[in-house]
Amino acid sequence: MAEMEIGNDEQIMLPKKEHEDYERAKEVKAFDDTKAGVQGLVDVGVVKLPPIFHMPREYIHDHPTLNGHNLHGFQVPIIDLKHVSDPCLRKEIVDKIRLASEKWGFFQVINHGIPQDVMREVLEGVRRFHEQPREVKMNYYSRETEIVRYYTNYDLHQSKGASWRDTLICVMAPNPPPPKSYPSACREILVEYSKHVQSIGEVIFELLSEALGLDPDHLKDIGCLEGHTFGCQYYPPCPEPERTLGHVRHRDPDFLTILLQDQIGGLQVLHQDHWIDVPPLEGALIINIGDLLQLISNDKFRSVEHRVLAKSVGPRISLACLFSTHLEPSKRVYGPLKQLLSPQNPPLYEETTILNYLNSYKSVGGLENALSFHKL
Ligand code: OGA
Ligand code: NI
Repeated sequence: MAEMEIGNDEQIMLPKKEHEDYERAKEVKAFDDTKAGVQGLVDVGVVKLPPIFHMPREYIHDHPTLNGHNLHGFQVPIIDLKHVSDPCLRKEIVDKIRLASEKWGFFQVINHGIPQDVMREVLEGVRRFHEQPREVKMNYYSRETEIVRYYTNYDLHQSKGASWRDTLICVMAPNPPPPKSYPSACREILVEYSKHVQSIGEVIFELLSEALGLDPDHLKDIGCLEGHTFGCQYYPPCPEPERTLGHVRHRDPDFLTILLQDQIGGLQVLHQDHWIDVPPLEGALIINIGDLLQLISNDKFRSVEHRVLAKSVGPRISLACLFSTHLEPSKRVYGPLKQLLSPQNPPLYEETTILNYLNSYKSVGGLENALSFHKL
């Protein structure tokens, strides 16, 4: 039993576990109240990982890691979109996307048409935001549902070990706010990148529709492209990278994510019970099937767990564009698409709204599969 003080002179005894939880909650709150994020710790020169970032061992060592080019030949598929408008070659691209979405839930695309300059500059914009003085950034620090907000770990107060990462969230569509709502450090480039990512998103959803045997506009017509939100991730160099993660394992709570990563590396995807590196590929974008697409495809396409290792080098910067209407979830209900069902392939999920699904995601945290709550 540990002794602790409540108020001025009252003393109560708490069992050890509860005492530890209480201490942790206090430290988490103190850290959150600084509104300075992980970068704020790096700024003051921490040389040891603060205990709130210590992850339970089983979060880190749950599956063995295999390097991207390994004996098993596992490698996240790379798909070249150069000839996407050529009707003969398009079929081959659709076949590759189908296979990757079924087996991996992850693939990289090259020759997608977003200029390299724009990709480089948007990551620079994210860096500029996160490297501003605390006084500027703290105005955006929030755990509410603002269109623009910055924080460390959306589940900081619930998780057993925090990830070594700060995030700037910017909702870009639908109903984008006036550009001045976005931080001046990255406002223009975020808006520009948003237009590009919307166009490539449209191409990818067309290919995915075809890969499901549907009309090319099908996924667009049911609203998959209606909204997108940017998660602008910043992973500062970590003093004890083996004791934590940059981003704990999770599935994405959307239809699809288009991820742009810099050249540092650390992203891993779970494939056949192994963590596989997704090595940075200059100019590529990473496409990641989200839970909602798994649900409407009735498990044909897989939303796959992924994570980011913490590293002593950095910062690592990435921008995840999540296609969904997060803040203004539409009233539409989503269930397995009727066109994909048959007596041999009955629906696996009940119909749900995006809001209902997001509530299950929040209640279990990313570590568990929120889709299981919507199974029939
Ligand atoms: C995410 C994500 C990976 C990365 O934001 O959902 O998985 O490389 N990001 O930052
Ligand atoms: Ni993710």
